[in-house]
Amino acid sequence: MKAVVVYSSKTGFTKKYAEWIAEDLSLEAYDLEESDNLKEVLSGVDTLIFGGGLYAIGINGLKKLLNENQTKSISNIFVFCTGLSLRSVEVQREIFKNNLKDVEKNNVRLYYYRGGFDFQKLSLIDQLLMRMLKLKIQWKKKKGPLSSDEKGMLAVFHRKVDFTDRNLIRELVDMKSL
Ligand SMILES: Cc1cc2nc3c(=O)[nH]c(=O)nc-3n(C[C@H](O)[C@H](O)[C@H](O)COP(=O)(O)O)c2cc1C
Repeated sequence: MKAVVVYSSKTGFTKKYAEWIAEDLSLEAYDLEESDNLKEVLSGVDTLIFGGGLYAIGINGLKKLLNENQTKSISNIFVFCTGLSLRSVEVQREIFKNNLKDVEKNNVRLYYYRGGFDFQKLSLIDQLLMRMLKLKIQWKKKKGPLSSDEKGMLAVFHRKVDFTDRNLIRELVDMKSL
């Protein structure tokens, strides 16, 4: 059995979970963007744990990873993602529908954890996208009530928030099949 943790993290929240998972399972955690030897990292792996931040409901880095030939033969894939949305069955279902519905594997499991927000660490493009989203939400606020996610987004915009919680990884690290 060979297992690895691979992650893609723009502002560090997913990285934190990836390192916790790797530590608890005594595995290596590899940064997808910095691994120039990804083929080597994935070679002979039968259990892959991948984590990415949520950006407009897409899991950052997931497509890139699944496009790697080596992932096609991996029998167990655990995907975790981090975002600002509150955790709920509906949110998890929506994330699955948007990211994993068409993956031709029936053994992919998805976990959603709350991450955080750090505007200063975002790239200029992501900062711009966030400013546009903020304007959209502010405009919507004038017309009617906002969802809890929208309210949350407005509340955190100008400060760093960190909702990471190590307890959330328990279910994943306690998986009997790992
Ligand atoms: C442009 C942008 C879009 C985002 N879209 C979502 C989203 O659709 N759902 C969500 O829950 N969080 C969303 N977030 C919040 C990030 O997913 C959250 O900050 C995450 O923890 C970042 O992880 P990372 O730092 O590891 O990349 C978004 C953040 C940015 C900047």
